[in-house]
Amino acid sequence: MCGIVGYIGNQESSPILMEGLERLSYRGYDSAGVAVIGSDGKINVRKAKGRLENLENLLKEKTVYGTVGIGHTRWATHGEPSDLNAHPHTDVKGDIAVVHNGIIENHVSLRKQLEMNGAQFVSQTDTEVVAHLLNQLYEGDMKAALLKAMTMLEGSYALGVICTREPDVVYCARNDSPLVIGFKDGEGFIASDIPALLSHTRDVIFLKDKEIGVLDRSGVKVFDIYGNEQHHEPYHVEWDLSSAEKGGYAHYMLKEIHEQPEAIKKTFEPRYSGTPGDYSWLPLTVEEVKNLRKISIVACGTAYHAGVAGRYAIEKLARIPVEAAIASEYRYRDPIIGENELFIAVSQSGETADTLAALREAKRRGAKVMAVCNVVGSTIAREVGDENTLYTYAGPEIAVASTKAYTTQVELMMLIAVALGQMKGELASEKAQELLDQMHQMPALVEKALGTEEQLQKFTSIASHKKHVFFVGRGLDYALSLEAALKLKEVSYIFSEAYAAGELKHGPIALLQEGRLVVATITQTALLDKTLSNLREIKARGAWVVAVCRESLKEKVTPEADELILIPDTDDLLMPLLAVIPLQMFAYCMAVARGCDVDKPRNLAKSVTVE
Ligand code: G6P
Repeated sequence: MCGIVGYIGNQESSPILMEGLERLSYRGYDSAGVAVIGSDGKINVRKAKGRLENLENLLKEKTVYGTVGIGHTRWATHGEPSDLNAHPHTDVKGDIAVVHNGIIENHVSLRKQLEMNGAQFVSQTDTEVVAHLLNQLYEGDMKAALLKAMTMLEGSYALGVICTREPDVVYCARNDSPLVIGFKDGEGFIASDIPALLSHTRDVIFLKDKEIGVLDRSGVKVFDIYGNEQHHEPYHVEWDLSSAEKGGYAHYMLKEIHEQPEAIKKTFEPRYSGTPGDYSWLPLTVEEVKNLRKISIVACGTAYHAGVAGRYAIEKLARIPVEAAIASEYRYRDPIIGENELFIAVSQSGETADTLAALREAKRRGAKVMAVCNVVGSTIAREVGDENTLYTYAGPEIAVASTKAYTTQVELMMLIAVALGQMKGELASEKAQELLDQMHQMPALVEKALGTEEQLQKFTSIASHKKHVFFVGRGLDYALSLEAALKLKEVSYIFSEAYAAGELKHGPIALLQEGRLVVATITQTALLDKTLSNLREIKARGAWVVAVCRESLKEKVTPEADELILIPDTDDLLMPLLAVIPLQMFAYCMAVARGCDVDKPRNLAKSVTVE
């Protein structure tokens, strides 16, 4: 979703702002703009609909000079993507410029009030109210105006503000939308996401909700909503920009698929001492586990699919009832949750608005809350506290379609299942040891599964014209099919649907006909016979069956499939970590064959910070 950057220092700001915006472009956007305070003391704004190249061309035609500026990539919510609706927005005289992520929920009433006081609006955005509001509240001190404005603004926001009357300051503020401040000698940076400032500094501060940051060339100050100065321990970012660059791969998605062995290793190792029984990384006592009545795993998109896989594993190993729920539904259904229940929010970004809201709801109702999250310092991680956050160490995930975050989320789900199983006394330590040993082997097996790429490339070159694809499976294979169908539709725009294989005959089988493509995942040994009969039903309708199948089942599956994609063997429970590889690769190759914008699919955003 939208991205924010800001700069103050001694260098020309517009190239720095543009570089930052480029690094944020993976989040998804449909227009972009910058505002820079020129040497004449005026704010110069340049905005363009569409890709960043359009803004770049505009900046070549109409250059802006100045060492203080803010920039934005917009993903339209209020008002169509257009030059006018693009940020930054200014007040009537153009003295104040604002960039904003999030949604100002009371913008309609504020707009009426501001118009009565003389403001003239030029855009359809909610953001423009902030510029006019700051103008009307300004009495010679932007910090005071911003603090006052924050008591009037409802909704979520990360704001970047510059003002001609204070030309050597960049202001920022946040509420429910991430904002990070970076600094080094004589220079300050703001951004909605770390990659945007990482080529300049690794020392950052995460602004908390209802705080403002004041940046000038002498440093950064942070204040709470009452104007009291706050001290923040700077966070030193360990990963470098190369982790967020393509490194020779054609696309980020392909690079991230290939990074999975490493991501899995990094996520597993800190939680593995060699012998089962040490689960000190899990923020639950044995007593708490024994008293658990239910676990709710709540998330959106791919993270939700990791939760579905987690449900199968936890119920099997720990015998605790688990529900996996979609966050946007969970929040509004008056959920039944309370004491002696565990709520796990799963989120790559840690910023997804629906997941955050669901988490707050569960917390309010007295549940124990935990998060599985990939981004240190993100809102969700902070909301549950670092001690209750299980980090996936996947590294920065740039492609909009999630791959390595998913595998590490599933891996953590499996680890949680083993830990809960043992702590509850349901899982024998021999079985736990066996599972942990196999997880230890996982990076090498995933590497082997990556070997399916060539076969998939060949196959997708003939399959890419398909208009519909069905994904089927049973048990954990169904959980995987959900993710496979999502991946394919996200990046290739092919209509795809996942069905529990046994459910096909209750309706969807009506859609099967000669040549229809069905991808079956077959990794669950205990369910093999049932799945094979489903495959026969599918084949009998003339469909083209591709089976993603574990090596040990090859002989039995061969007669029922037109194409076989073989993956290595491990415990049934851990098979999703391997089977997902060719399914991700399938989506990727289909998208490439169809000429799609793989890393930035249309209409999608990496981190959805609105409901
Ligand atoms: C967006 C992304 C998906 C992602 C979902 C949840 O829709 O496009 O790839 O799975 O948000 O994101 P999260 O950061 O909470 O895992």
